[in-house]
Formats: sequence, structure tokens, C-alpha cells
Amino acid sequence: MSQSQFVSKCTVDALQTAAKTLLHGDLVAFPTETVYGLGADALNKQAVARIYEAKGRPADHPLIVHLHSLQVMGQWVEEVPEYAIALARDYWPGPMTLIFKRSNLAQDFITGGQETVGIRVPDHVVALALLEAFHNLGGRGVAAPSANRFGHVSPTTAQAVSDELSEYLKPADQILDGGACTVGVESTIIDCTGDVPRILRPGGITVTMIAESTGITEQELINAQKSQQEVTRVSGSLENHYAPAAKVLLCETPLPGQGFVAHANIETPEGVIRLASPKNDEEFAQVLYSSLREADARGLAEVVVVQPIGVGIAVAIRDRLRRASNGR
Ligand code: TXA
Ligand code: MG
Repeated sequence: MSQSQFVSKCTVDALQTAAKTLLHGDLVAFPTETVYGLGADALNKQAVARIYEAKGRPADHPLIVHLHSLQVMGQWVEEVPEYAIALARDYWPGPMTLIFKRSNLAQDFITGGQETVGIRVPDHVVALALLEAFHNLGGRGVAAPSANRFGHVSPTTAQAVSDELSEYLKPADQILDGGACTVGVESTIIDCTGDVPRILRPGGITVTMIAESTGITEQELINAQKSQQEVTRVSGSLENHYAPAAKVLLCETPLPGQGFVAHANIETPEGVIRLASPKNDEEFAQVLYSSLREADARGLAEVVVVQPIGVGIAVAIRDRLRRASNGR
């Protein structure tokens, strides 16, 4: 049973209450278009500490600051290159996180002691309304990682948040239900501290989209990504992450009793438990995490996934699947 308050109807009043909950120092899990986030007032050290406790996440892993509008980003960051302005204008609100040199507002408990801060304007009516209500109450930004235990699959429904975290939340905390996430994998993270943007984590905003917006060629972007030398602490880039309890097997023929996720045009062999049949790559991303959760709910030991080939969101799907297949 959830100890926190589960809010199934996100009315204007309910969102106003949720914004007050954040300002009071309690936690609010909320939907975004990518995955659900676990939010806290980004200026409140104790509240942010509770996010780390609830997730069981190491304290030196930085959090993304969520804002309702690009207009208020200036208070959090110091240097914004031209290409980042283009990206923000083109793809916010949207599944993209930009990393900048931090201002004094972004304290060590947000950045994990790094000199940079991640900013995102999510594209979800509930998230945007919550963030705007928080802003109108004087709040500056909402720090939110994905609302799952560290290393586990991100939640794409409010029920999945409750399953993951309810035992670590308090009665004053809230979980806002905004339906199933439409993108389904976490945002593209782009480091905007250099001459060329560097993709730290692939997501819904693809290399092609970044090239279109900035005028920088795809090849240059890929080279910049490869030349990534210094180790930034991106927990999403750990080699084992996004993993269910079931073992994720890639490139294998499924055997009877194993779970199976593949494009709809691939048939299910006899005795194999089909968990999802997405019709295209966008749908694959949407259902990926819920199908891995379903494997665990059914107590399956192994799940075979036929990875989507090609570019676009398929790159992000393969990235998460590779890490998931490394286990926990
Ligand atoms: O789609 C998303 O990005 C979701 C929703 C809730 O917005 N959030 C999310 O947060 O995935 P999280 O904390 O689970 O993953 C964000 C990643 C982490 O791996 C973190 O290390 C990295 O972003 N990150 C945050 N700030 C950073 C910074 N200043 N430099 C490098 N990486 C950073
Ligand atoms: Mg995460």
C-alpha cells in the first residue's frame, strides 16, 4: 500500500496543492513525456537529500533541474552558446536535457559537486502546470531524477512509481497520475559546455534533429560524442542500468517459458510469453519499460528482446537495452 498520497485527478487545485507540497520540502512524483520524475524543490537541501534516500542513489550523481519555461533558465546557468539557444527554442518543451556551466543557484547538492547543471523543460501538461504553479509561488526549479530505485527500470506510469517507491515515501509526499508516458525512454542529454554539443545520453531528440537545429553536421556531432574524454558522472551512462530483475537477453531465439519483446511483424514461437508487439520504433520506446516490468511481475527469469535496427529513437532503445542486458 502506498503511504504517499496518490493523486489520480490532476485538477488545477490538485496541482496548486502539489506545488505547495514541493515548496514545503516534501516530494512530488510527476509525469513527463519521457518517464516519471521524483521532484523536490531544487533549492532545498533536505528535500533533495530525500530524493537520494528514496532512490538509494549515490549522492555524487547530479540531478536535472526542471523548469516550466526556457525564459527562467538564465538564473541557473552561466554560459549559453548559440547552438544551445537554437536547441532550446526548437525542442523545448521536449525530451531534451541541456548541460551548462552552473550559476550560484545550482548548489553542490544538485550538481554532485560538478561545475555544470542539467536543465530540462518537459513536454507534459501536468508537469508544465506543476512547474508553473511552483514558479508562481516563488519556486525556482524542481530537481527530479527518474522515479525508480537506483539502477532499475524507469517508471512510465504512476502505478509503476508507486510500486517502486511507495515504501520510501512519506504520507505528505504525492504521486501525480498523468497517464502513460508518450516517449517512454529518458531525455537526450546534451553537454553544451564546449564548442560543439556532445550527446551524453541518446533519447527522443536524435542526432539528425540536433544537426537540423544547430547547422552542425551529424558527422561532427558523432565525432564530438566519441571524443568525450573526461568522466562526467552520468549514472544513466553506467554500463549496468535500466535493468529489471529478469535477465535481458539480446540477439537470441526465445525458448518456451521466456518473455519476448519484438516488433509486431516477428512471430511468437510456441510456448514463449509475448510481452509486447510494438508496430514501430516510437511504440517500441513507449512500451519497452512497461514490458520489462511485466516480465518481473510475472516472475519470469529471462526476457528476450529483438532490438530495433536503424536510427532515430532506435538508438536510445538499443542504448538502454545494452545496459539493461548487463544486469544489476
Ligand atoms: O527524461 C528524463 O531526463 C527524466 C525525466 C524525469 O526528466 N529524468 C531522468 O533523470 O532521467 P535521471 O537523474 O534518472 O537521469 C539523468 C541523468 C543522470 O544520469 C545524471 O547523472 C545526468 O543526467 N546529469 C544530470 N546533471 C548532469 C550534469 N550536470 N552533468 C552530467 N550529467 C548530468
Ligand atoms: Mg534515472
